[in-house]
Amino acid sequence: MLVLGIETSCDETAAALVESSAFAPGATSGASAERWAIRSNVVASQVDIHREWGGVVPELASRQHVRDICGVVERALADGRAGWADVDALAVTQGPGLVGSLLVGVSFAKSAAWALGKPLVAVNHLAGHIESIWLEHGPIPLPAVVLVVSGGHTSLYLVTREGEYTLLGRTRDDAAGEAYDKVAKLLGLGYPGGPIIDGLAQQGNDVAIRWPGTRLTNPDRNAPERDGRFDFSFSGLKTAVLRHVRERQSVLGAEQLPREEIVDLAASFQRRVVETLIERTFSAARWHGAKSIGIAGGVSANSRLRQEALAKAERSEIPVYIPRLALSTDNAAMIAAAGMRQLALGRIAPPDLNAAASLPL
Ligand code: KG4
Ligand code: ZN
Repeated sequence: MLVLGIETSCDETAAALVESSAFAPGATSGASAERWAIRSNVVASQVDIHREWGGVVPELASRQHVRDICGVVERALADGRAGWADVDALAVTQGPGLVGSLLVGVSFAKSAAWALGKPLVAVNHLAGHIESIWLEHGPIPLPAVVLVVSGGHTSLYLVTREGEYTLLGRTRDDAAGEAYDKVAKLLGLGYPGGPIIDGLAQQGNDVAIRWPGTRLTNPDRNAPERDGRFDFSFSGLKTAVLRHVRERQSVLGAEQLPREEIVDLAASFQRRVVETLIERTFSAARWHGAKSIGIAGGVSANSRLRQEALAKAERSEIPVYIPRLALSTDNAAMIAAAGMRQLALGRIAPPDLNAAASLPL
């Protein structure tokens, strides 16, 4: 079974070929006998276009997807030494994401599937991030608690059966990656902020600044049925950083903080974000009796998060699984993998499939 995955939810145009062997249609329980292999994984990043504006400009993003999609798909086929006739099914990100960007991938995938007479499956971008863990590591011990931490999301899921996800908690305001991007912008460091702050943090003192704590005691107004104990909030920390920077700017009488202060701020900020992510993920895992933990999404590329999660895994004897960097940030191999799950369940997308900017998972 060879699946062509297509991903255009934000500012990366991506296509990938993933092959599965021992494909068992209708298999719904237990560890699957399926093995996934990445035949190709092509990502055209638009970061250079959006950097100039300090963040993703939706209209520029969709226009660039239109320019890139054909070339990216052709390259994925060529890298995987496959032709259109070898593709058994297509998988495309339906949402969540920028609607104009999503529409490029969805329209392309629907046309290609129709022209080839091959099935198309619709994939939730977050399911793609979750499945990047299985794509990298194969079956992991279940039940698993999975943290999806990216520029748009910070959510915890319980996976009791492969391909089934129950939301345990999520951010009430900013996503962790969004907090990184906003803090980097505030410090005049550029876009995307995550990798820049991660790099600077390694040179700074992580206890130089003490940030006020965040405590969530009330349930989420938008989801009162969840008790909210595994929710996140990063806007308080972001505001504390803003206040600190404004104060220092007025004391120094200058817009730009000295480099020593920036690296200390980056290290202290990163320490707080990573501590919060790890604390909540491990307590959710303990609470739900998880046999393993997965961490996926763009922020799982963070060096401190990776190191500390793996160190804590050894101490607490819950194994932690994180995909390699190329599968952490947005890619289409994870979309093809999540598509395999949909195919196994026979969930084929209808011909009138539409993009869904706030598709829930
Ligand atoms: O998953 P992703 O590629 O796209 C979304 O679905 O949002 O995640 C992008 C996010 C950005 O906010 C970026 O700043 C963050 O991931 N990121 C990082 C690192 N690398 C990427 N955040 C912290 N440390 C990193 N090393
Ligand atoms: Zn993503």
